[in-house]
Amino acid sequence: MLANSLVQLDREHLIHPVSAYRSHEAKGVMVLESAKGMFVRDAAGKELLDAFAGLWCVNIGYGHESVVEAAAAQMRKLPYATGYFGFGSEPAIRLAARIAELTPEGLDRVYFSQGGSDAVDSAIRLITHYYNATNRPTKKQFIALQKGYHGSSSLGAGLTALPVFHRNFDLPNANQHHIASPYPYRNPAGSDDASVIASSVAALKAKVAELGAENVAAFFCEPIQGSGGVIVPPVGWLKAMRETARELDILFVADEVITGFGRTGPMFACAAEGVSPDIMTVAKGLTAGYAPMGAVILSEKVYAGIADGASPETMIGHGYTYSGHPVSAAVGLEVIRLYTDGGILANGQKVGQQFEAGLAALASHPMVGEARSRGMLGALELVSNKAEKTPFGAKLGLSERLFRHGYKNGIVFRAFADGTIGLAPALSCTEAEMETLLARLKRTLDDALDESDVRAAMHG
Ligand SMILES: Cc1ncc(COP(=O)(O)O)c(C=O)c1O
Repeated sequence: MLANSLVQLDREHLIHPVSAYRSHEAKGVMVLESAKGMFVRDAAGKELLDAFAGLWCVNIGYGHESVVEAAAAQMRKLPYATGYFGFGSEPAIRLAARIAELTPEGLDRVYFSQGGSDAVDSAIRLITHYYNATNRPTKKQFIALQKGYHGSSSLGAGLTALPVFHRNFDLPNANQHHIASPYPYRNPAGSDDASVIASSVAALKAKVAELGAENVAAFFCEPIQGSGGVIVPPVGWLKAMRETARELDILFVADEVITGFGRTGPMFACAAEGVSPDIMTVAKGLTAGYAPMGAVILSEKVYAGIADGASPETMIGHGYTYSGHPVSAAVGLEVIRLYTDGGILANGQKVGQQFEAGLAALASHPMVGEARSRGMLGALELVSNKAEKTPFGAKLGLSERLFRHGYKNGIVFRAFADGTIGLAPALSCTEAEMETLLARLKRTLDDALDESDVRAAMHG
């Protein structure tokens, strides 16, 4: 067995996240071997500009020695410390305090997870506990957006509204509901800002009325829907949804797993609209993918509801062995230092303008139905007929072709199944690297359009 190639070993043993198991086995894995700055290198030595920051997480770019040093130093000193039995470690405590400082006013209580899925799962568990502890046990219904992504845990995947996360998983649960995505490009209410915002507010109010406010626990949303195709609602949408949730007396949960830590410009997307959610979930950019970590951040109201819901000695039965892992926390502290003192957040804001302008310019490409972006998060939605906004048919396998052409041209991005290209370059991207990214992206679109059957599908 040891003589087998990595591809063969992978085929036989490694189950990949969100993959088509049999076709992955048939195609074989693409092994990545090393990375530096904006570039990853595959096992054959081919260098690729990573326009997706791994999985929208490596916001500082690859190869920061100071992060490696922070992790190594912490591993030498104290590689593990439990948070149970009253123990703690300095990096976890300092990181919790730093997050409280950086997040919107009122979010001061931090519970650490290993990533985004378990941050969302923790949020759901804690909300359930909160309503029981505050004597409102009927509030158990959860509402989220169609096309939303809230991870892959047994509970979170039901709030997620992407069909493959539900099919054969017996989800969503009976207490998990979805309202229409704001999706300006295809919103039946119209794509102008006011109509998009009004339609989402009306949908949330209608759903809560249908379920009864006394039965509804919370509304979950991403400030910009990532895995649903980078759907960018108008400025003002988030604030309107937050205010509506407050009016309806339901908790407002902002899932900033992608949008947090500078991805859309400010440190958090909520901050751009002066929104303070009841609960925020984060992961990805928190450690920029250098070590696994996420967090659920509670407002004082939710924290106090749980803390004071029983006698002071009663345990809250929620915990993970690796909550507040000191190595991940040390990484998180250094990554945040790089965003702030290291200037990476400011760089992302500057290069983000170039990115947004570059994507907007690509909107004139024959295949691009819509270019949308905010900060360093963007997408090109490809269509075969711009006037009709007709998606390319699934039979064409456009996403695979785009990925293949991109690879050949030295760029990796997210090729969504519906023919949308998702982009989330590191915030550390230089202006010259952004030029390269945009040029390779354009070449990839041109190469796809050069294929005779893609050309034949146009205007269809
Ligand atoms: C908004 C959102 N929430 C939750 C998750 C789940 O995070 P993880 O994959 O770290 O479990 C993701 C992952 O992409 C996400 O985008």
